[in-house]
Amino acid sequence: MLYTPIQFRNVTLKNRWVMSPMCMYSSENGMPNDFHLVHYGSRAQGGTGLIILEATGVEPRGRITNKCLGIWNDEQANQLKKIVDFVHQNSESKIGIQIAHAGRKGSTWNNIQISEEEGWETIAPSAIPFNTTERIPHVLSIEEIKEQVQNFKEAARRSVEAGFDVVEIHGAHGYLIHQFLSPLSNVRTDEYGGSFENRIRFLLEVVDAVNSELNDNIALFVRISATEYAENGWDIEESVELSKILKTQGVDLVDVSSGGNIHGAKISVFDGYQVPFSAQIKNEANVKTGAVGLITDVAQAEDILAKEEADLIFVAREILRNPYIAVQGSFKLKEECFFPHQYTRAKK
Ligand code: FNR
Repeated sequence: MLYTPIQFRNVTLKNRWVMSPMCMYSSENGMPNDFHLVHYGSRAQGGTGLIILEATGVEPRGRITNKCLGIWNDEQANQLKKIVDFVHQNSESKIGIQIAHAGRKGSTWNNIQISEEEGWETIAPSAIPFNTTERIPHVLSIEEIKEQVQNFKEAARRSVEAGFDVVEIHGAHGYLIHQFLSPLSNVRTDEYGGSFENRIRFLLEVVDAVNSELNDNIALFVRISATEYAENGWDIEESVELSKILKTQGVDLVDVSSGGNIHGAKISVFDGYQVPFSAQIKNEANVKTGAVGLITDVAQAEDILAKEEADLIFVAREILRNPYIAVQGSFKLKEECFFPHQYTRAKK
């Protein structure tokens, strides 16, 4: 199963291992550099079915820190293309990008908000900071919401030009899109707040705008937080309803994470702790899903696929420790997996 290919549009992944997006805080002015080439390139050498680049800002204020990647100009996209080309030329991996806007969680360093002078004025659907110690974010006007939709659209156009195989919209972890989804961070009284239909409007507009730039050779994923672990907050039932709609809007996979929008929320964390959310969304919304969160081992990953709890296995911290998780898993299971031809003498 882990080594059974899967297709999204015309994009075929050779196996089910996905490098989960992870911020590396290593760029200047949003530009990728040699670190990123080696970092992502080595996961391609490791046979990973799909590599998804870290949260990449659709505008400067969309970054979490001023060391985050960006895709708001063509120079950034041209540099990103070098990573994409390396992966395509030297491996069988596919490569995606997570396009993101941090909203009220931007302008930080080490998870602590930095000043407006060193950072920037943050934006949000409502005048509610993530943490009470933080500045009140600027409330987006309707016109400014439309500008943000346009920023995502242009990021998608640049992603296509850079040659990515997948675009993932970051709708999770308390960033701008999630801030709109949650009734706890979105108390707007216009068409972008209040009812479920209104709170999901921004995400659906982003999905449509992004999808209008994509084609059959580039698939669309959306990462969501299935619950924010807070009373009266965004929850799994709303996630199921949203996922049904995302499917009808052409989203190919829902990447199921959780949390991140409510400061101090209590989360019980254990091996595969988010897998049940993935399973529920997959079964009830009848959509392909990715499972993520403390999945570290081949047998565990196989079990999730065997139980049809997810279609893809996203791995974050374990793939930082072990870029060769896909190759090593294939040795264990005696399955075929890409291994660099230069390394043939090390093949078991
Ligand atoms: C993350 N995570 C994350 N998620 C995301 O959607 N976009 C991102 O840019 C990041 N950045 C990030 C950086 C680092 C260093 C870590 C460790 C994590 C979350 C990540 O993708 C994943 O969902 C969680 O880490 C849970 O998976 P693991 O680590 O238990 O496999």
